[in-house]
Amino acid sequence: MTGLTQRRRDPGEEPLPDDPDRDPPFLDLDRLEREARGVLEPGVYDYYAGGAETETTLAEAPGSWRRWRLRPHVLRGVSEVDTATTLLGSPVDTPVGVAPWAYQAMAHPEGELATARGAAATGSMMCVSTSANHTVEEVARTVPEAPKWYQLYRLHSPEHTADLARRAGEAGYRALVLTVDLPLLGRRKRDLVHDFALPADLRMANHPTASDRPGLSANASATWTFDDIGRFAELSGLPVVVKGVLRGDDAARCVQAGASAVWVSTHGGRQVDPAVSSAYALPEVVTAVRGETAPDGSDVEVYADGGVRTGSDVLTALALGARAVFLGRPTAWGLATGGADGVARVLGGLTDELAHTMALCGLADVDEIGADLVVRA
Ligand code: GLV
Repeated sequence: MTGLTQRRRDPGEEPLPDDPDRDPPFLDLDRLEREARGVLEPGVYDYYAGGAETETTLAEAPGSWRRWRLRPHVLRGVSEVDTATTLLGSPVDTPVGVAPWAYQAMAHPEGELATARGAAATGSMMCVSTSANHTVEEVARTVPEAPKWYQLYRLHSPEHTADLARRAGEAGYRALVLTVDLPLLGRRKRDLVHDFALPADLRMANHPTASDRPGLSANASATWTFDDIGRFAELSGLPVVVKGVLRGDDAARCVQAGASAVWVSTHGGRQVDPAVSSAYALPEVVTAVRGETAPDGSDVEVYADGGVRTGSDVLTALALGARAVFLGRPTAWGLATGGADGVARVLGGLTDELAHTMALCGLADVDEIGADLVVRA
Protein backbone atom coordinates (compact mmCIF):
# COMPACT_ATOMS: atom_id res chain seq x y z
CA MET A 1 0.00 0.00 0.00
CA THR A 2 1.16 3.52 -0.68
CA GLY A 3 0.31 6.35 1.66
CA LEU A 4 -2.41 7.67 -0.68
CA THR A 5 -5.85 7.88 0.89
CA GLN A 6 -8.77 6.67 -1.18
CA ARG A 7 -11.84 8.85 -0.97
CA ARG A 8 -15.37 8.18 -2.23
CA ARG A 9 -17.43 11.05 -3.63
CA ASP A 10 -20.90 11.73 -2.24
CA PRO A 11 -23.70 11.61 -4.84
CA GLY A 12 -24.67 15.23 -3.99
CA GLU A 13 -21.21 16.69 -4.55
CA GLU A 14 -20.45 19.19 -7.31
CA PRO A 15 -19.44 17.36 -10.52
CA LEU A 16 -15.72 17.13 -11.16
CA PRO A 17 -14.33 19.48 -13.83
CA ASP A 18 -14.07 16.67 -16.39
CA ASP A 19 -17.53 15.25 -15.70
CA PRO A 20 -19.21 14.72 -19.11
CA ASP A 21 -22.45 16.22 -17.74
CA ARG A 22 -20.83 19.50 -16.84
CA ASP A 23 -20.84 22.41 -19.30
CA PRO A 24 -17.30 22.85 -20.61
CA PRO A 25 -15.71 26.26 -20.01
CA PHE A 26 -15.51 26.96 -23.76
CA LEU A 27 -17.82 26.94 -26.77
CA ASP A 28 -18.53 23.32 -27.67
CA LEU A 29 -20.68 23.38 -30.79
CA ASP A 30 -20.94 19.59 -31.09
CA ARG A 31 -22.32 19.39 -27.60
CA LEU A 32 -24.68 22.30 -28.30
CA GLU A 33 -25.99 20.47 -31.35
CA ARG A 34 -26.60 17.33 -29.24
CA GLU A 35 -28.52 19.42 -26.71
CA ALA A 36 -30.57 21.06 -29.46
CA ARG A 37 -31.34 17.69 -30.97
CA GLY A 38 -32.69 16.67 -27.57
CA VAL A 39 -35.24 19.51 -27.51
CA LEU A 40 -36.30 19.64 -31.17
CA GLU A 41 -38.86 17.50 -32.97
CA PRO A 42 -36.92 14.93 -35.07
CA GLY A 43 -38.30 16.35 -38.34
CA VAL A 44 -37.33 19.88 -37.34
CA TYR A 45 -33.86 18.83 -36.22
CA ASP A 46 -33.33 17.03 -39.53
CA TYR A 47 -34.66 20.00 -41.52
CA TYR A 48 -32.02 22.24 -39.92
CA ALA A 49 -29.21 19.68 -39.78
CA GLY A 50 -29.63 18.02 -43.15
CA GLY A 51 -28.20 18.65 -46.59
CA ALA A 52 -29.01 17.63 -50.16
CA GLU A 53 -28.46 14.28 -51.87
CA THR A 54 -25.48 12.41 -50.33
CA GLU A 55 -24.70 15.30 -47.94
CA THR A 56 -21.12 15.33 -49.22
CA THR A 57 -20.92 19.15 -49.33
CA LEU A 58 -22.38 19.35 -45.84
CA ALA A 59 -19.90 16.84 -44.43
CA GLU A 60 -16.86 18.41 -46.12
CA ALA A 61 -17.54 22.01 -45.14
CA PRO A 62 -15.83 22.28 -41.72
CA GLY A 63 -12.78 20.31 -42.85
CA SER A 64 -12.36 22.49 -45.92
CA TRP A 65 -11.29 25.49 -43.83
CA ARG A 66 -8.77 23.24 -42.08
CA ARG A 67 -6.93 22.45 -45.27
CA TRP A 68 -5.20 25.77 -44.60
CA ARG A 69 -2.57 26.49 -41.98
CA LEU A 70 -1.93 29.77 -40.21
CA ARG A 71 1.46 31.50 -40.44
CA PRO A 72 1.60 33.48 -37.17
CA HIS A 73 3.60 36.66 -36.66
CA VAL A 74 5.55 37.21 -33.45
CA LEU A 75 6.61 40.22 -31.37
CA ARG A 76 3.89 42.56 -32.61
CA GLY A 77 2.47 43.91 -29.34
CA VAL A 78 -1.03 42.46 -29.22
CA SER A 79 -2.23 43.39 -25.74
CA GLU A 80 -5.42 44.79 -27.33
CA VAL A 81 -7.24 42.94 -30.13
CA ASP A 82 -10.08 44.58 -32.02
CA THR A 83 -12.51 42.45 -34.04
CA ALA A 84 -14.68 45.41 -35.15
CA THR A 85 -15.19 46.08 -38.84
CA THR A 86 -17.72 47.53 -41.24
CA LEU A 87 -20.04 45.68 -43.61
CA LEU A 88 -21.19 47.82 -46.53
CA GLY A 89 -20.45 50.79 -44.31
CA SER A 90 -22.37 49.55 -41.24
CA PRO A 91 -20.15 49.23 -38.15
CA VAL A 92 -20.25 45.82 -36.44
CA ASP A 93 -18.28 44.57 -33.43
CA THR A 94 -17.40 41.28 -35.07
CA PRO A 95 -17.04 39.79 -38.56
CA VAL A 96 -19.15 36.83 -37.34
CA GLY A 97 -22.80 37.19 -38.40
CA VAL A 98 -26.02 35.19 -38.58
CA ALA A 99 -26.78 33.57 -41.94
CA PRO A 100 -30.40 33.60 -43.08
CA TRP A 101 -32.15 30.42 -42.00
CA ALA A 102 -35.82 29.72 -42.21
CA TYR A 103 -38.69 29.19 -39.78
CA GLN A 104 -36.88 30.11 -36.59
CA ALA A 105 -40.06 29.76 -34.49
CA MET A 106 -39.66 26.00 -34.92
CA ALA A 107 -36.54 26.32 -32.76
CA HIS A 108 -37.85 28.81 -30.20
CA PRO A 109 -41.23 30.52 -29.72
CA GLU A 110 -39.70 33.98 -30.24
CA GLY A 111 -37.99 32.83 -33.43
CA GLU A 112 -36.33 35.58 -35.47
CA LEU A 113 -37.02 38.16 -32.77
CA ALA A 114 -34.84 36.27 -30.29
CA THR A 115 -32.10 35.72 -32.88
CA ALA A 116 -32.15 39.43 -33.68
CA ARG A 117 -31.74 40.28 -30.00
CA GLY A 118 -28.89 37.78 -29.63
CA ALA A 119 -27.11 39.19 -32.68
CA ALA A 120 -27.61 42.76 -31.47
CA ALA A 121 -26.15 41.85 -28.06
CA THR A 122 -22.86 40.81 -29.68
CA GLY A 123 -22.80 43.58 -32.28
CA SER A 124 -23.20 41.02 -35.08
CA MET A 125 -24.87 41.43 -38.45
CA MET A 126 -28.05 39.40 -38.79
CA CYS A 127 -29.39 38.47 -42.18
CA VAL A 128 -33.13 37.83 -41.78
CA SER A 129 -34.69 35.12 -43.97
CA THR A 130 -37.66 35.70 -46.25
CA SER A 131 -39.02 32.42 -44.88
CA ALA A 132 -39.39 33.89 -41.43
CA ASN A 133 -42.15 33.39 -38.90
CA HIS A 134 -42.13 37.12 -38.17
CA THR A 135 -42.64 39.91 -40.65
CA VAL A 136 -39.96 42.11 -42.15
CA GLU A 137 -41.19 44.94 -39.94
CA GLU A 138 -41.56 42.95 -36.70
CA VAL A 139 -37.91 41.90 -36.76
CA ALA A 140 -36.80 45.43 -37.63
CA ARG A 141 -38.79 46.93 -34.75
CA THR A 142 -37.26 44.49 -32.24
CA VAL A 143 -33.73 45.79 -32.77
CA PRO A 144 -34.23 49.18 -34.42
CA GLU A 145 -30.64 50.33 -33.94
CA ALA A 146 -28.87 47.09 -34.84
CA PRO A 147 -27.59 46.65 -38.39
CA LYS A 148 -29.48 43.95 -40.29
CA TRP A 149 -29.88 42.69 -43.82
CA TYR A 150 -32.87 41.17 -45.52
CA GLN A 151 -32.59 37.99 -47.56
CA LEU A 152 -34.89 37.58 -50.52
CA TYR A 153 -36.19 34.68 -52.57
CA ARG A 154 -38.91 34.69 -55.08
CA LEU A 155 -41.45 32.88 -52.96
CA HIS A 156 -44.70 34.03 -54.45
CA SER A 157 -45.64 36.31 -57.31
CA PRO A 158 -43.06 38.72 -58.77
CA GLU A 159 -45.25 41.57 -57.50
CA HIS A 160 -45.20 40.24 -53.96
CA THR A 161 -41.42 39.72 -54.11
CA ALA A 162 -40.96 43.29 -55.35
CA ASP A 163 -43.15 44.49 -52.50
CA LEU A 164 -40.98 42.65 -49.95
CA ALA A 165 -37.88 44.32 -51.40
CA ARG A 166 -39.52 47.73 -50.99
CA ARG A 167 -40.65 46.92 -47.45
CA ALA A 168 -37.11 45.89 -46.48
CA GLY A 169 -35.84 49.27 -47.65
CA GLU A 170 -38.55 51.11 -45.76
CA ALA A 171 -38.07 49.08 -42.57
CA GLY A 172 -34.45 50.14 -42.23
CA TYR A 173 -32.56 47.05 -43.39
CA ARG A 174 -29.12 48.01 -44.69
CA ALA A 175 -28.84 45.61 -47.63
CA LEU A 176 -30.87 43.20 -49.69
CA VAL A 177 -29.34 39.73 -49.95
CA LEU A 178 -30.53 37.93 -53.07
CA THR A 179 -30.19 34.17 -52.67
CA VAL A 180 -29.48 32.97 -56.18
CA ASP A 181 -28.56 29.34 -55.64
CA LEU A 182 -32.15 28.22 -55.34
CA PRO A 183 -33.81 28.18 -58.75
CA LEU A 184 -35.58 25.23 -57.16
CA LEU A 185 -35.17 23.42 -53.91
CA GLY A 186 -32.32 20.91 -53.53
CA ARG A 187 -33.32 17.30 -52.96
CA ARG A 188 -33.11 16.83 -49.23
CA LYS A 189 -33.71 13.23 -48.39
CA ARG A 190 -34.21 13.75 -44.67
CA ASP A 191 -37.09 16.14 -45.41
CA LEU A 192 -38.59 13.68 -47.87
CA VAL A 193 -38.46 10.93 -45.24
CA HIS A 194 -40.21 13.13 -42.66
CA ASP A 195 -42.49 14.70 -45.27
CA PHE A 196 -41.34 17.94 -43.70
CA ALA A 197 -43.75 20.87 -43.59
CA LEU A 198 -44.00 23.97 -41.48
CA PRO A 199 -46.03 23.07 -38.35
CA ALA A 200 -49.65 24.15 -38.74
CA ASP A 201 -49.50 26.61 -35.82
CA LEU A 202 -46.72 28.65 -37.42
CA ARG A 203 -47.16 31.21 -40.16
CA MET A 204 -44.98 32.18 -43.07
CA ALA A 205 -45.19 35.77 -41.96
CA ASN A 206 -44.05 37.36 -45.20
CA HIS A 207 -46.39 35.47 -47.48
CA PRO A 208 -49.62 36.99 -48.56
CA THR A 209 -51.67 33.83 -48.12
CA ALA A 210 -51.54 30.76 -45.94
CA SER A 211 -51.92 28.66 -49.09
CA ASP A 212 -48.19 29.04 -49.67
CA ARG A 213 -47.62 26.26 -47.15
CA PRO A 214 -45.65 24.01 -46.93
CA GLY A 215 -42.79 26.22 -47.93
CA LEU A 216 -40.61 27.14 -50.80
CA SER A 217 -42.36 26.87 -54.12
CA ALA A 218 -40.84 24.54 -56.66
CA ASN A 219 -39.66 27.35 -58.93
CA ALA A 220 -38.42 29.63 -56.16
CA SER A 221 -36.12 31.91 -58.14
CA ALA A 222 -35.90 30.03 -61.42
CA THR A 223 -36.73 33.10 -63.49
CA TRP A 224 -34.05 35.39 -62.07
CA THR A 225 -31.10 36.50 -64.20
CA PHE A 226 -28.24 38.96 -63.70
CA ASP A 227 -30.63 41.76 -64.77
CA ASP A 228 -32.61 41.29 -61.57
CA ILE A 229 -29.70 42.56 -59.46
CA GLY A 230 -30.11 46.15 -60.65
CA ARG A 231 -33.89 45.89 -60.54
CA PHE A 232 -33.90 44.89 -56.87
CA ALA A 233 -31.36 47.57 -55.98
CA GLU A 234 -33.70 50.14 -57.52
CA LEU A 235 -36.84 48.73 -55.90
CA SER A 236 -35.39 48.59 -52.40
CA GLY A 237 -33.02 51.55 -52.56
CA LEU A 238 -30.51 49.20 -50.87
CA PRO A 239 -27.13 47.79 -51.84
CA VAL A 240 -27.53 44.25 -53.18
CA VAL A 241 -25.50 41.31 -51.91
CA VAL A 242 -25.64 38.24 -54.17
CA LYS A 243 -25.56 35.08 -52.05
CA GLY A 244 -24.76 31.60 -53.30
CA VAL A 245 -21.91 32.34 -55.73
CA LEU A 246 -19.22 29.66 -56.10
CA ARG A 247 -17.40 30.78 -59.27
CA GLY A 248 -15.21 33.76 -60.12
CA ASP A 249 -16.84 34.34 -63.51
CA ASP A 250 -20.30 34.57 -61.96
CA ALA A 251 -19.00 36.86 -59.21
CA ALA A 252 -17.60 39.25 -61.82
CA ARG A 253 -20.91 39.27 -63.69
CA CYS A 254 -22.82 40.01 -60.47
CA VAL A 255 -20.62 43.03 -59.88
CA GLN A 256 -21.00 44.24 -63.47
CA ALA A 257 -24.74 43.93 -63.01
CA GLY A 258 -24.70 46.22 -59.96
CA ALA A 259 -23.99 44.01 -56.91
CA SER A 260 -22.22 45.68 -54.00
CA ALA A 261 -21.05 42.40 -52.52
CA VAL A 262 -20.86 38.70 -53.27
CA TRP A 263 -21.53 36.00 -50.67
CA VAL A 264 -19.76 32.69 -51.28
CA SER A 265 -22.05 29.92 -50.07
CA THR A 266 -23.18 26.37 -50.72
CA HIS A 267 -26.47 27.14 -48.94
CA GLY A 268 -25.29 24.93 -46.11
CA GLY A 269 -24.87 22.00 -48.50
CA ARG A 270 -28.64 22.04 -49.08
CA GLN A 271 -28.64 22.71 -52.82
CA VAL A 272 -26.02 21.33 -55.25
CA ASP A 273 -24.36 18.21 -53.90
CA PRO A 274 -21.52 17.54 -54.25
CA ALA A 275 -20.54 21.19 -54.77
CA VAL A 276 -17.17 22.82 -54.19
CA SER A 277 -16.81 24.07 -50.63
CA SER A 278 -16.89 27.77 -49.82
CA ALA A 279 -13.28 27.52 -48.65
CA TYR A 280 -12.33 26.26 -52.12
CA ALA A 281 -14.37 28.85 -54.04
CA LEU A 282 -13.55 31.89 -51.91
CA PRO A 283 -10.04 32.68 -53.27
CA GLU A 284 -11.28 32.47 -56.89
CA VAL A 285 -14.20 34.81 -56.15
CA VAL A 286 -11.98 37.26 -54.27
CA THR A 287 -9.54 37.36 -57.20
CA ALA A 288 -12.38 37.90 -59.70
CA VAL A 289 -13.76 40.98 -57.93
CA ARG A 290 -10.48 42.50 -56.70
CA GLY A 291 -10.27 46.17 -57.63
CA GLU A 292 -13.95 46.30 -58.63
CA THR A 293 -16.16 48.98 -57.18
CA ALA A 294 -19.73 48.86 -55.94
CA PRO A 295 -22.34 51.31 -57.32
CA ASP A 296 -21.52 53.76 -54.48
CA GLY A 297 -17.81 53.73 -55.40
CA SER A 298 -16.62 51.63 -52.44
CA ASP A 299 -14.75 48.35 -52.82
CA VAL A 300 -16.84 45.28 -53.56
CA GLU A 301 -17.01 43.09 -50.45
CA VAL A 302 -16.97 39.28 -50.27
CA TYR A 303 -18.47 37.17 -47.48
CA ALA A 304 -18.53 33.43 -46.89
CA ASP A 305 -20.48 30.81 -44.99
CA GLY A 306 -20.44 27.03 -44.74
CA GLY A 307 -18.88 24.98 -41.97
CA VAL A 308 -17.23 27.84 -40.07
CA ARG A 309 -17.05 26.41 -36.54
CA THR A 310 -13.98 27.87 -34.78
CA GLY A 311 -12.19 31.18 -34.39
CA SER A 312 -9.35 29.89 -36.55
CA ASP A 313 -11.87 28.95 -39.28
CA VAL A 314 -13.05 32.58 -39.15
CA LEU A 315 -9.48 33.84 -39.32
CA THR A 316 -8.73 31.56 -42.28
CA ALA A 317 -11.78 32.86 -44.16
CA LEU A 318 -10.74 36.45 -43.48
CA ALA A 319 -7.21 35.70 -44.65
CA LEU A 320 -8.65 34.24 -47.87
CA GLY A 321 -10.40 37.57 -48.48
CA ALA A 322 -13.81 37.34 -46.80
CA ARG A 323 -14.80 40.51 -44.98
CA ALA A 324 -17.19 38.55 -42.78
CA VAL A 325 -18.41 35.03 -42.20
CA PHE A 326 -21.94 33.92 -41.40
CA LEU A 327 -23.18 30.97 -39.37
CA GLY A 328 -26.46 29.15 -39.78
CA ARG A 329 -26.76 25.85 -37.90
CA PRO A 330 -24.73 26.82 -34.80
CA THR A 331 -27.04 29.78 -34.26
CA ALA A 332 -30.03 27.44 -34.66
CA TRP A 333 -28.63 25.22 -31.90
CA GLY A 334 -28.03 28.30 -29.74
CA LEU A 335 -31.56 29.55 -30.32
CA ALA A 336 -33.15 26.15 -29.66
CA THR A 337 -31.32 25.68 -26.37
CA GLY A 338 -31.10 29.21 -25.02
CA GLY A 339 -33.17 31.73 -27.01
CA ALA A 340 -31.52 35.12 -27.55
CA ASP A 341 -28.86 34.34 -24.93
CA GLY A 342 -28.05 31.09 -26.67
CA VAL A 343 -27.52 32.90 -29.99
CA ALA A 344 -25.36 35.50 -28.26
CA ARG A 345 -23.28 32.76 -26.61
CA VAL A 346 -22.50 31.22 -30.02
CA LEU A 347 -21.66 34.52 -31.73
CA GLY A 348 -19.79 35.87 -28.71
CA GLY A 349 -17.94 32.59 -28.21
CA LEU A 350 -16.78 32.49 -31.83
CA THR A 351 -15.73 36.13 -31.64
CA ASP A 352 -13.73 35.45 -28.45
CA GLU A 353 -12.02 32.54 -30.19
CA LEU A 354 -11.26 34.77 -33.16
CA ALA A 355 -9.73 37.45 -30.91
CA HIS A 356 -7.68 34.82 -29.09
CA THR A 357 -6.35 33.34 -32.32
CA MET A 358 -5.65 36.81 -33.72
CA ALA A 359 -3.56 37.59 -30.63
CA LEU A 360 -1.68 34.30 -30.98
CA CYS A 361 -0.98 35.25 -34.61
CA GLY A 362 0.23 38.75 -33.70
CA LEU A 363 -2.78 40.55 -35.18
CA ALA A 364 -4.31 43.44 -33.26
CA ASP A 365 -6.90 44.44 -35.84
CA VAL A 366 -8.90 42.70 -38.56
CA ASP A 367 -7.39 45.09 -41.13
CA GLU A 368 -4.02 43.44 -40.48
CA ILE A 369 -5.30 40.06 -41.69
CA GLY A 370 -3.90 39.35 -45.14
CA ALA A 371 -3.50 36.52 -47.62
CA ASP A 372 0.04 35.92 -46.36
CA LEU A 373 -1.43 34.61 -43.09
CA VAL A 374 -2.37 31.24 -44.60
CA VAL A 375 -0.81 28.52 -46.65
CA ARG A 376 -2.24 25.25 -47.95
CA ALA A 377 -1.49 22.33 -45.63
C1 GLV B 1 -34.18 27.33 -47.38
O1 GLV B 1 -33.53 28.15 -47.91
C2 GLV B 1 -33.65 26.09 -46.98
O2 GLV B 1 -32.46 25.84 -47.20
O3 GLV B 1 -34.42 25.29 -46.42
